[in-house]
Amino acid sequence: MKTDYRTKNCRAKWDNSADTCLPLRGQKPRAWRLVLFGAPGVGKGTQAEFLKQRLDICHLSTGDLFRAAASQNGSSQSPAMAEAMGYMRRGELVPDSTVWQMVRERGDCLQCAAGFLLDGFPRTVPQAEQLQAYMEGEGLALDGVLDYEIPMAEIIARLSGRRVCEKCKAVFHITWRPSSTEGICDDCGGRLYQREDDQPKSIVTRLEVYRHSTAPLVEYYKEQGLLLSLDATGSPEDIFARTMHSLQARSESLSKQPAGERV
Ligand code: AP5
Repeated sequence: MKTDYRTKNCRAKWDNSADTCLPLRGQKPRAWRLVLFGAPGVGKGTQAEFLKQRLDICHLSTGDLFRAAASQNGSSQSPAMAEAMGYMRRGELVPDSTVWQMVRERGDCLQCAAGFLLDGFPRTVPQAEQLQAYMEGEGLALDGVLDYEIPMAEIIARLSGRRVCEKCKAVFHITWRPSSTEGICDDCGGRLYQREDDQPKSIVTRLEVYRHSTAPLVEYYKEQGLLLSLDATGSPEDIFARTMHSLQARSESLSKQPAGERV
């Protein structure tokens, strides 16, 4: 039987729904510290759902944080957050300083003994440098950066057909993962909606922004020996199998590194 090291309360600190997450109940074989990387719509959130179950780690998405802030009423939003919402709606990147402030406020999540799965962060070289400096200061290191790759045409099809549950945030696709009743979430009965930044104009901007500002991180992480490149075509289950295969190889290579070479 699979050991349940954590409780269901993972991410409680990240999304501010509780002061603390519940403690680990045992020693994990490896507390993975991973970054999910790839163009908008490549399927990072979909893979995160599989990975968090299999590896018992927290899924920490900066996009989810901003969307949660956007759903608060205007008066409880800080001026920086209200400004960030404008960038997001247009498909542009939120300024590095605002993003880092939000991540830094949740530093405990990066130190979680269970490990983490960062999704949507870092997205620029300065963000990656901030993360690296922070982790080094805390005596931590990333174990790998999962870089998902698919052709541009498929990205556009994935994004324009995506529908999200407004209640439980489950993700569907009108063609590849349709809900049983159109517009209604299979998991909780909530209403499905199309994200504002999944409109054609925002998609074009997001892909352009990815090419200019985020893609350079591929070289950054390759040079550090952290990049794990993955073909993201095929079914979500196939991609997950490839991901686990890559992590298995990574785990074996990390175990062979002499003590002291990594923190
Ligand atoms: P964020 O929420 O991070 O969006 P993103 O990176 O654009 O990624 P997506 O959530 O759109 O796609 P995904 O790769 O998770 O794909 P999914 O699994 O849903 O960021 C949104 C915005 O917030 C940014 O534009 C920016 O403004 C701001 N932001 C966030 N972080 C920031 C940062 N660090 N710095 C600055 N700004 C920041 O899949 C997509 C669809 O495809 C779904 O419908 C799914 O069902 C379907 N699908 C998935 N896999 C498959 C498959 N194998 N086959 C067929 N369909 C599939």
